[in-house]
Amino acid sequence: MNKLLFLVAIIATLAACGQDSGSKGEAAKAESGADIKMIDLVTTQDGSPLKIDAKLFDTPAAKEFIATGKNPYIGVEAEILAGKKKFNLYSCVACHGGHGEGAVAPGLQGPNFKYAKNANNKGMFETIWHGTNGGMGAKGFGLMQADPPDGLTVDETLKVIAWIRSNSTVTGNE
Ligand code: HEC
Repeated sequence: MNKLLFLVAIIATLAACGQDSGSKGEAAKAESGADIKMIDLVTTQDGSPLKIDAKLFDTPAAKEFIATGKNPYIGVEAEILAGKKKFNLYSCVACHGGHGEGAVAPGLQGPNFKYAKNANNKGMFETIWHGTNGGMGAKGFGLMQADPPDGLTVDETLKVIAWIRSNSTVTGNE
């Protein structure tokens, strides 16, 4: 009987360990104190790790994005309109055109992109947040050359992407 209990205890311990090591990415403590799982982001410049403070994932949509790589604002009208405003405010419009059709900079409607990863919302987030080597400056919060620190928040970046996708057949969440 004792042997059986011992076995049960071992199995329970193993199961608990398996749960931890099976989770992808690192668990980070957000300011709220809640554990959030974070997928690995990489820069568009060279694919090196793109580290963003877990505290900046401060809305339900931002948390869902960093857990899954999906953008929950795709197709949501109110968020798309908010994204359109930021697209204008941050001068995306000047280089990419009013509907992302392209101007002095490439079009953003796809389905073909200069960087193939931009067909996906995780990839486009990385490009907008951290920029490229070919003339696209980082727009992520704190990365713009501005005093006081300026730039799109994570949540705003997701809205901007939702606006860009609303002009396109690409949804980027596949
Ligand atoms: C000063 C001009 C300029 C502004 C402002 C600008 N971009 Fe860009 N953007 C570029 C250029 C140039 C490229 C091409 C970069 C390259 O070839 O590496 C680019 C590339 C991109 C790409 C990748 C396109 C592809 O085909 O892979 C995305 C996405 C993008 N920009 C989004 C934005 C968003 C969103 C904003 C506003 C927050 C913005 N850009 C503001 C000039 C600009």
